[in-house]
Amino acid sequence: MKDKIILILIIASMVSAVVYTQSVSIPETLSMTVSVYDQHVFYNDNFENQGPAFLTKGMVKSDLSKTLKFPELVTMDVNLAGKKGTNYMGTMYNPQLFKYFFSENVEADNNTQNSGKNFPLKINLTLTYNKDNAAYEFSSDQFFPINNKGFNDKTTWNVPSNYKKSSSAADWWSMSSSPGYLANNYNYCIKLNSKFTYQAKGEIFKFKGDDDVWVFINNKLAVDLGGLHLAERQDIDLKTLSLTKGTTYDLDFFYCERRATASSMQISTNIEIFCVNDYCGVCNGDGTTCCPAGFCDDKNACTIDKCPKLGTVGDGKFTKNDCVFTNVTCEKAPDQCTSSFCDPSSGCKTAPIVCDSGSADKCFEVNGNCNVDTGCQYKYKCTDNGRCDLGCDGGTCKIKDEVYCGNEFGNDPCYTYKCDNEIGCIKAPKCPQEGIPDCSIHVCNANATNEVDRCEIQSIQTDCNCCKNQVIDGCQLPGCGPLNGECVPKNKTIDDGNLCTIDTCENGTIKNTPKVCGGCSQCDSKTGECVINPPVCDDGNICTKDQCTLVKNLNGSANGICTNDFIQCGLNDTDKCNIWSCDPEKGGCQSTKVICEEKSLCQVGTCKPSTGQCEYAPRVCSNGGAFCLISECDERLGCITYNRQCPSDDSRCQAGICVNGTSDEPEGRCRSVDYDPLPFVCQTAAVVSTAVVAGVTVAGAIALGIFLYGGKKGYDYWQDNKSKGLTGASSNPLYKESDNAGQNPFYNDNNL
Ligand SMILES: *[C@@H]1O[C@H](CO)[C@@H](O)[C@H](O)[C@H]1NC(C)=O
Ligand SMILES: *[C@@H]1O[C@H](CO)[C@@H](O)[C@H](O)[C@H]1NC(C)=O
Ligand SMILES: *[C@@H]1O[C@H](CO)[C@@H](O)[C@H](O)[C@H]1NC(C)=O
Ligand SMILES: *[C@@H]1O[C@H](CO)[C@@H](O)[C@H](O)[C@H]1NC(C)=O
Ligand SMILES: *[C@@H]1O[C@H](CO)[C@@H](O)[C@H](O)[C@H]1NC(C)=O
Ligand SMILES: *[C@@H]1O[C@H](CO)[C@@H](O)[C@H](O)[C@H]1NC(C)=O
Ligand SMILES: *[C@@H]1O[C@H](CO)[C@@H](O)[C@H](O)[C@H]1NC(C)=O
Ligand SMILES: *[C@@H]1O[C@H](CO)[C@@H](O)[C@H](O)[C@H]1NC(C)=O
Ligand SMILES: *[C@@H]1O[C@H](CO)[C@@H](O)[C@H](O)[C@H]1NC(C)=O
Repeated sequence: MKDKIILILIIASMVSAVVYTQSVSIPETLSMTVSVYDQHVFYNDNFENQGPAFLTKGMVKSDLSKTLKFPELVTMDVNLAGKKGTNYMGTMYNPQLFKYFFSENVEADNNTQNSGKNFPLKINLTLTYNKDNAAYEFSSDQFFPINNKGFNDKTTWNVPSNYKKSSSAADWWSMSSSPGYLANNYNYCIKLNSKFTYQAKGEIFKFKGDDDVWVFINNKLAVDLGGLHLAERQDIDLKTLSLTKGTTYDLDFFYCERRATASSMQISTNIEIFCVNDYCGVCNGDGTTCCPAGFCDDKNACTIDKCPKLGTVGDGKFTKNDCVFTNVTCEKAPDQCTSSFCDPSSGCKTAPIVCDSGSADKCFEVNGNCNVDTGCQYKYKCTDNGRCDLGCDGGTCKIKDEVYCGNEFGNDPCYTYKCDNEIGCIKAPKCPQEGIPDCSIHVCNANATNEVDRCEIQSIQTDCNCCKNQVIDGCQLPGCGPLNGECVPKNKTIDDGNLCTIDTCENGTIKNTPKVCGGCSQCDSKTGECVINPPVCDDGNICTKDQCTLVKNLNGSANGICTNDFIQCGLNDTDKCNIWSCDPEKGGCQSTKVICEEKSLCQVGTCKPSTGQCEYAPRVCSNGGAFCLISECDERLGCITYNRQCPSDDSRCQAGICVNGTSDEPEGRCRSVDYDPLPFVCQTAAVVSTAVVAGVTVAGAIALGIFLYGGKKGYDYWQDNKSKGLTGASSNPLYKESDNAGQNPFYNDNNL
């Protein structure tokens, strides 16, 4: 597989955009950073496998998955119906490990054989302009870009304890038994995902090399050189691919060095490849080169550890500090008596809720077992005080006292006041009629300034005499009628001043019977009516609606009935995308939003408030309104933004440049300006001086920004990015004087 190579690669600009104020010429060198996956026969025996070595076409699917962006095998079978299939011919004996040729797999155990474990690295691929060939070249027939790196870095990598070298392999570090090759790191794959804008100027792509090579243009297989083979060649003329001038397409290149002892690769193209670097600095990379699986693991089971979203960290600027940690949301507990929580060492857990009044207001006490539907049960602590309850303050039950009752009844100095748990406030005369001599009454002087003078016993001897010979009802006092000596008894005062008692007198015994106001009802001393007393129904659970309902009995008594119904949260919320629930432990009604799973990075779901259903639409990527920026969604990367690549009217003599919108010409447009120096073949053409064109973006010079700009707009964003350490104008190869002798290199016929 060793072969002589001439690598000619024209254009692949990874540099930042520039404002065109100088000449448009051609870069002398072009450099891009690509992903390399170091592989080892121990982890992936599709490498260094001593099976047959054939050029094998048709091994991979002809369409490139837009989400994977690496080739997939047509079949997972090695042999088909007893016949040797393409995988056999391509020495792909372990087809399920093929996906790790071009995608990182770092988490697999060190000591597990054929796990597909690989070692992602990145390398710069630099192409140099060759004046004679009028093309960019890279030439090496000893293409070993990761020697002493990855699995072959003896300073960091330990040979797995159970590794046994195979008969064909000399040792872990090198797959060749030939001493001359021991220093080389064979067995790796290279992936380049890039873009280009079709200029329709006769673009070609040529490749020659070993081993597997697949190139996809516009996600279609264009170069198909699979298998272990000596250097093989395939050329593609883009004219045959039905591309549209000015449209941007993907170009994806895959290369593997699978078996010692040769490694060669040769590309020739005048396709103007460009890159939108990821935060690893890798051309159109997905961030896994510098942030592989597990890299951000903080060993905390309560956080979801992720690499940052592409575009949130600048080109090549990723560090571990950029890892994104979000708290795990544990699934809701199955009932109201179980709590769910996250334990940093083991993740989400559930545990029974311990009901204790300490967790509720101090005015409540635990009332029986936890209810799976409503949670902990509490009851109002001060119900023992009955009708004398005046509420609870921080755990202290307040009661109606004499002062309170006096105020309630108007503070008549002839009465004493107190509260009775059964009745509420009651008053009693200060000057009772009991215990005084017959034929006298106890009179109260409301005006007395001294309590000693309050009561006065007055004789009713006259009245007594009138009724001397009569039997007076015990509920009456004697009295004289209008006629002389006539006995007309007077009723004793039985009213206790409390409308909540039924005052009766029977056989001389005055009774003040409390009105029956049962349950959560109580008697209103001002009206004598049973009224509801809702605090009695309070169960201390904020997720229940506590109500007292008055039920009147036929006999005039009443009963108050408590209900504690579980409340319905968000009943009049018209947004069906809110999911409501009530959690007494977490402050009552809570809503969470319906989360629409992303079908893919570019198909995003939004919940429709009227239906609560997720609706999917393509992700909208904004270019901030700047004509010279193209913003589009990439199924693997999300929104990416890059400079518009303008084709020129005469690609032999002119460069296509993009003119950002100005106040005079708001739209922005593509424009063609002459190369400077002007290629010889163009010298007779009319010269439009390029030096005077300012405020334009040079085609082929790329802004490497991924969707970054929230408030930033178009040009400003671009300017900003430029100043953020992307390749500065001075290092932009477009500024370098070209020593190309007046000939546009793209049109030199001297190809390969
Ligand atoms: C690639 O080139 C850049 C710029 O010259 C350099 O900073 C970087 O270290 C290089 N990367 C590798 C992997 O060689
Ligand atoms: C696997 O091997 C590498 C290199 O020797 C070492 O750094 C790493 O800690 C190992 N991983 C485990 C899980 O042992
Ligand atoms: C994540 O959880 C930790 C620990 O429970 C907490 O301190 C932190 O505030 C939480 N962060 C967010 C954003 O909720
Ligand atoms: C008490 O005083 C008021 C006014 O000072 C007077 O109208 C009333 O008759 C007096 N009552 C008695 C019992 O002296
Ligand atoms: C005295 O009480 C009786 C029975 O309680 C009642 O029928 C009568 O009307 C009362 N008389 C007066 C003058 O209030
Ligand atoms: C009232 O007292 C008399 C005599 O003590 C008794 O005969 C009568 O039954 C009593 N009436 C009631 C209603 O208790
Ligand atoms: C009134 O009726 C209810 C039932 O209807 C009964 O529980 C209550 O004891 C009665 N009250 C009186 C004073 O009879
Ligand atoms: C929901 O309805 C209740 C009762 O009808 C009303 O008091 C409340 O203001 C409403 N809330 C909203 C957000 O409309
Ligand atoms: C570039 O275009 C954007 C969007 O049209 C505009 O907002 C910005 O001002 C333009 N910048 C220049 C320098 O013309």
